[in-house]
Amino acid sequence: MSELVRFGVSLEKSLLDKFDRLIRERRYTNRSEALRDLIRQELVKKTWSEDLEVAGAITFIFDHHQRDLLNRITDIQHDYQKLIISTQHVHLDHDNCLEIVAVRGKAGRIQDLTDSLKAIRGVRHCSLSMSSAGKDVR
Ligand code: NI
Repeated sequence: MSELVRFGVSLEKSLLDKFDRLIRERRYTNRSEALRDLIRQELVKKTWSEDLEVAGAITFIFDHHQRDLLNRITDIQHDYQKLIISTQHVHLDHDNCLEIVAVRGKAGRIQDLTDSLKAIRGVRHCSLSMSSAGKDVR
């Protein structure tokens, strides 16, 4: 673990009151942990915008009954096989399937994969959870 450093922050009381209210709502027990998370969030955002090595999850829901849809989804996943760590398929109900694709690689390629899945007819909802490959947030 890296060395712990203390530093002072000056800000308007009204802003600090809002911050304290926000971190209470988000269940933080102290300002330090909330601030650490805010900093990490910005660092992760930066790695994505600079097309660096990142990790994340693509989650999408699709029509179980639509013919050839699963083949199309599988073909795309093979095209991006180097990015994909694992895929989980869940039979949500009679009509819908849910897939969660864990990914690691260049941010731009992950965005391309997400866009390709999203654009398939029959994919009803697709979202990308942008996270970190780990080294940028410690
Ligand atoms: Ni299914």
